[in-house]
Amino acid sequence: MIRLHDKEFVPYISNDEIKNAITKMARQIEEDFKDDIPVFVGVLNGSFMVVADLATKYHKDCEFTFVRLSSYDGVKSTGNVKRLIGLGKGLTGRSVVVVEDIVDTGNTLLELKKLFEKENVKSLKFATLFFKPEAYQQSIKIDYIGIDIPDKFIVGYGLDYKELGRNLQNVYQLK
Ligand code: IMP
Ligand code: MG
Repeated sequence: MIRLHDKEFVPYISNDEIKNAITKMARQIEEDFKDDIPVFVGVLNGSFMVVADLATKYHKDCEFTFVRLSSYDGVKSTGNVKRLIGLGKGLTGRSVVVVEDIVDTGNTLLELKKLFEKENVKSLKFATLFFKPEAYQQSIKIDYIGIDIPDKFIVGYGLDYKELGRNLQNVYQLK
């Protein structure tokens, strides 16, 4: 058992299982993309571990970049507007695979989809290491899913509880 801030977590998914799931995703993406060169776009902060492992498992040509989804208060009363930061060079005409650590309700995925569609990409696919099917409220297709998990809070392998736990090699579930 581990403690992060005020909460306790119990071991849930081993690093071996995670590595196997990422290897499977890499094989699927290789098969789907054939001679096309994907740009993997990691969504910070959570995805840094997944992207690093995907990079070691993906054995064909590919590129990497990272974005952060940021909210800023719009000047109008339209409320919170999301934007992508970090997209230096454009993705126009590229085959993009957005890489997430976890998809829960899917609200973040919906924002990402809207924002990437404005980039005039050739194709847009989504990959996530963890997926909570019971919590998912969107109809967007997730092309590559590592591991389905129940609707319970997890930490480790990039995922945090109030910023702690990202460096854990295994994944832990809230006790
Ligand atoms: P969404 O509900 O799919 O939009 O997920 C929003 C964000 O909540 C994710 O990108 C994660 O940063 C965070 N999140 C969702 N579930 C978990 C979890 O079990 N552990 C840690 N963070 C989570
Ligand atoms: Mg995240």
